[in-house]
Amino acid sequence: MPMEKYLQQAKSLLAKMTVEEKIAQLIQIPYAQYGREASLEWAKKGAGSFLHLSAEQAEEIQAVALQSRVGIPVLFGIDAVRGHALNDKATIFPTQLALACTWDRALVQEVGKATAREVAADGIHWTFSPLLCLARDTRWGRCNETFGEDPYLTGELAKAMIEGYQGEDLAEENSILACAKHYIAYGEAVGGRDATDSEVTYRKVREVFLPPFQKAVEAGVASIMTAYGSLDGTPLTIDGHALRNILKEELGFQGFVVTDWANVTNLVEKQHIAKDAKEASKLALEAGNDMIMSSPEFYDAILSLLQAGEIDEKYIDEACLRILCVKLAVNLWDKAKTSKKSNIVGQESHQKQSLESARRSLTLLKNDGTLPLQNKYKKIALFGANADDIRAQYGDWTYFTHPLPYPDRQATRPYTTLKEGMEKCSADRALECKYLRACGPIADDSDDIEAAINLARQAEVIIYAIGDEISQIGEGKDRANLALSGRQEELFGELQKLGKPIVCVLIASKPLAIENIAENCNALLCAFNGGAHGGQAIAEALFGEFSPSGRLPISFPRHSGQLPVYYNQLPGWHSWNPEFPDGKYADLDPTPLFAFGEGKGYSKVSYHDFCFDPANLQAKIRVQNNGEYSVFETVQVYVRDLVSSILTPIKRLVAFQQVELQAGESKSISIELKKEDFTLINRKEEAVLEPGEFTVFVGASSKDEDLLSETFYLG
Ligand code: BGC
Repeated sequence: MPMEKYLQQAKSLLAKMTVEEKIAQLIQIPYAQYGREASLEWAKKGAGSFLHLSAEQAEEIQAVALQSRVGIPVLFGIDAVRGHALNDKATIFPTQLALACTWDRALVQEVGKATAREVAADGIHWTFSPLLCLARDTRWGRCNETFGEDPYLTGELAKAMIEGYQGEDLAEENSILACAKHYIAYGEAVGGRDATDSEVTYRKVREVFLPPFQKAVEAGVASIMTAYGSLDGTPLTIDGHALRNILKEELGFQGFVVTDWANVTNLVEKQHIAKDAKEASKLALEAGNDMIMSSPEFYDAILSLLQAGEIDEKYIDEACLRILCVKLAVNLWDKAKTSKKSNIVGQESHQKQSLESARRSLTLLKNDGTLPLQNKYKKIALFGANADDIRAQYGDWTYFTHPLPYPDRQATRPYTTLKEGMEKCSADRALECKYLRACGPIADDSDDIEAAINLARQAEVIIYAIGDEISQIGEGKDRANLALSGRQEELFGELQKLGKPIVCVLIASKPLAIENIAENCNALLCAFNGGAHGGQAIAEALFGEFSPSGRLPISFPRHSGQLPVYYNQLPGWHSWNPEFPDGKYADLDPTPLFAFGEGKGYSKVSYHDFCFDPANLQAKIRVQNNGEYSVFETVQVYVRDLVSSILTPIKRLVAFQQVELQAGESKSISIELKKEDFTLINRKEEAVLEPGEFTVFVGASSKDEDLLSETFYLG
């Protein structure tokens, strides 16, 4: 987003504006909460932006804004974080976490493009997405919104998503603004408790949490949202070092910064950093926030500070200029004239993309040969509330969980639950599939374990959908206990006694602690929240219409008490590293239940002839599909620094490449690394390459047994 191009024009606009008009540009009003009357008043006053409103509401607000004295059009924003999913007519894509299982940059970019087309068709210009926080302590309620636990994978997919949303040129009809959020280290909130302090240093910020934001800035992201929480005691809303020094100066971010919801209000009410709105507003503006979401008291506060000579007008001008530049870049004056194009919202080609994304996100974690089902079993029993609950299948951030702009919470077709998908696939093969809810994530009067056992007795194979549901997901819904809730474990125990093959399908917002099930089932497929067509995708995969190709972007714990269990930990004396099996807990296997990068298919892929050329930092490898299914193989490259002045992760993802392999096919690929892939952040917070030996690992997951390695010297 090169701002210089628009700076002159923005400056001449600014010169025509009164102080009141400039401050109003910094205000973002939540339409759904304030209602029509109050919102229209704010539009007359010249509020720069509104969020969470429908196409019709936006049209009315825009007309009022355009009639105001300066006539600067309003920027409309919405949380279209998995498709334009707050609109019940839109295409609902898998969650970010499910999409991350694809490890497919091009696919994620296409999802971004489709979302942008639907959002733009509703006259909205901006989505508060992608989310770049890392889900390392998975008790956190917002894991489903992330691309997982790894900075590199998150940065790569975020870049792809931003390119999808923003297109080649923001001014294009189908481009919308992206918003990288939440800046910064928000996912690292202590204990996984949303919006609390992240007890990390700036060195750690630079090593782990900043790289995805840096990539977003390089990709030209137009806006960045600050976080609710605090970093080592400083609320991120007032952290001038993070916002001005690092983001705007050092990284050269040229778009604008928007606060998260009521961040200014809560400097007074929740964080007790400021005594009143004036102090809070001054701190937030001076720290480098440009647009203020849902804290409209900022307007009067800044105006009176200015009149009393207690704040420098340059801060208002700077913020306003950034917003005006973005408005010019999106060609808002023209876009404001166009009206809604509703036939694009939910269109068939986007539904197909959603289905394909769901297919590609499926991650097979265990299989003893029970899968694919094909025609092996004539009688199938299907259990679990999540097999036929579209709300649980969707998870967070749809019109069910956030109905504000579109208050009708009725489930809107098209969508396919697992039950529907299984019934269709079974009928196509003349097989019998009988469904019973049996139990679900929340214990309920209709739970019926006995009936399930009776049905299971008549079946040859059992498919059991386990997971969580929307009352257990999202902001303010962190969980201390990630074990399966309700009577889900109990049902598994009873089914197990029948000695029939059991295939479990995890329809959940995050990795749950399912060690017993993982060890005792015959096959386990992880689906997370696959969107509208998730159920169809799962059924097709179970029957073997394609080979699942997802890879975990996040590690599974054996037990909640083991968290955090992310793969790229620092070595300790009694290390977590499986190479030192004494582990960290006296009462638990130290390895994760399933590791970052893990995932199987119906064909076995093997890795051969690995060689690393240190002069060109080039890794070469041959991958061989030994099975009968074609597959997407994700070749992963990790690095370890053998001796360093500061602890470095036992392994760190630095590259990956996807290869499509037909049955029996073998392909040689080469992956180029860069010198920066071997740098560390030293104690002075500088990125440096310390000469010495490094190990490069290449293979199918972060697990040692899946990797080939070579050690070399880099000076
Ligand atoms: C969330 C943001 C979201 C915003 C607007 C906040 O509660 O933290 O991620 O974009 O609301 O809905």
